[in-house]
Amino acid sequence: MKIKVIAGLSCLMALSVQAEEFSPFVDKKGEISLPDDFRNTMSHLGSWYVPQGDASGFHDVYMPADQVAQYRESGQFPDGAVIVKELRHSASGAYTTGAGVSHATEMVKQTFVMIKDSQGRFSDSGNWGEGWGWALFKVGQKKNASMNYKTDCLGCHIPAKQHDYVYTEGYPTLHAK
Ligand code: HEC
Repeated sequence: MKIKVIAGLSCLMALSVQAEEFSPFVDKKGEISLPDDFRNTMSHLGSWYVPQGDASGFHDVYMPADQVAQYRESGQFPDGAVIVKELRHSASGAYTTGAGVSHATEMVKQTFVMIKDSQGRFSDSGNWGEGWGWALFKVGQKKNASMNYKTDCLGCHIPAKQHDYVYTEGYPTLHAK
């Protein structure tokens, strides 16, 4: 009996160690958290500018530098890769570079996160599938607001399926040598 309990405990410990090693932004239940201060600690992959609609403004995309290096080597997102996309309001005005120059402001609209899971670790959860974990963070909230990636995310990412659901054409950092 005692041995069984100890075996059970060490099994649990092994599981949690495995989850920690997988990603600092995923707990053992598969809940995704928003990385802190990613604008300062991760590499900037590229930005999109959306002129109108709900998603208008700048979409700035980041991934840790070591994972960028792995992508440049293999052309694949490594297991545990974390891609953060932050939407910001924009403002425009006349600058010494020209008229109607747009820039991102300090106001965040919302933040999206994708985490690569090439082993299907969390396939039971509504926010894991197609090789990724999917998360949306509203301003000031720490909990993933996405209920189900199939209804909240996937439809819009199908056009990028041939690049592992990522719009890689917008990320010169992934390809620069
Ligand atoms: C309305 C369509 C739409 C929806 C819904 C959507 N995305 Fe996206 N997503 C895009 C497009 C298009 C891009 C790249 C261009 C852009 O940002 O305008 C993108 C880019 C991203 C990126 C940057 C990496 C990449 O794939 O290029 C992440 C991360 C991301 N989305 C996560 C999510 C998550 C997580 C959800 C669901 C909670 C989601 N998206 C829902 C359309 C969408």
